[in-house]
Amino acid sequence: MDVQGKVALVIGGGSGIGRASALALARNGASVGVGDLVAERAEGVASEITEAGRPALGAAVDVTRSGQVNDLVKQTIESFDRIDILINSAGIFPQDTVQDLEEEEWNQVIAVNLTGTFLACKAVVGHMIANQGGKIINISAGHGARGIVKGSHYAASKAGVNALTKSLALEVASHGIMVNAVAPGPVDTPLPRGGRLYTEEEKQRMGEALPMGRIGRVEDLASMVVFLASDACQWFTGQIVYHNGGDLMLG
Ligand SMILES: NC(=O)c1ccc[n+]([C@@H]2O[C@H](COP(=O)([O-])OP(=O)(O)OC[C@H]3O[C@@H](n4cnc5c(N)ncnc54)[C@H](O)[C@@H]3O)[C@@H](O)[C@H]2O)c1
Repeated sequence: MDVQGKVALVIGGGSGIGRASALALARNGASVGVGDLVAERAEGVASEITEAGRPALGAAVDVTRSGQVNDLVKQTIESFDRIDILINSAGIFPQDTVQDLEEEEWNQVIAVNLTGTFLACKAVVGHMIANQGGKIINISAGHGARGIVKGSHYAASKAGVNALTKSLALEVASHGIMVNAVAPGPVDTPLPRGGRLYTEEEKQRMGEALPMGRIGRVEDLASMVVFLASDACQWFTGQIVYHNGGDLMLG
């Protein structure tokens, strides 16, 4: 999957799916800007990439702040001359029923997962139009289609990401820009359990409930991201790729 010579910016690239995507894009030949709320995470992933012999930069960014997002985009273009690929992977997933959910928590989830994705898309899209090409890949979630108990804000934010993805895809298709989303099922990262990883017992139990018999690994998702970002992926835009070991086939 060829991303040789391309420049990618991965927001939320300090952990989990974003980190694995940043590393996989670099392994496949891209230069990579890594942004994350936690500066050490972004810098750590950038160091891993440069130690492996590919150009990278890591910087702190709060994706809810348009000024910070615009600065990161500017810094990436100044360092690598262009941005061909944007991956939006920043996300949070606190869990509460609608009855218990504070308005502040609702707003924060929408701000990070949905508004943050919008701000990053907005920050790169003019540049991609000027270049008459680019790939934007938003990390959504299967919950955006099916809902989840204690995750109304999360599911709503991801349904919004899906609608944003389709709308932007329509707006920029004539400029050769492809905008797609990957909607994972359960993946082994710290996100679903408030910062701790799944226990082996949890992984086993959740895996057994899936048609393919295991929960997702970040590398599964990173491979899909690299494919969507690569030259192998053409004439494909406005799509939500449900990547979940068969989960949604359960209804
Ligand atoms: N892990 C899963 O089961 C799963 C399932 C479906 C969808 N997703 C989605 O995948 C994406 C990546 O999640 P993950 O599982 O890799 O989690 P993760 O917690 O490992 O990574 C998320 C990263 O986003 C960063 N982040 C959080 N708020 C931010 C902000 N305001 N600005 C910039 N960065 C911020 C975090 O610091 C973290 O490094 C998220 O959008 C998540 O909703 C994950």
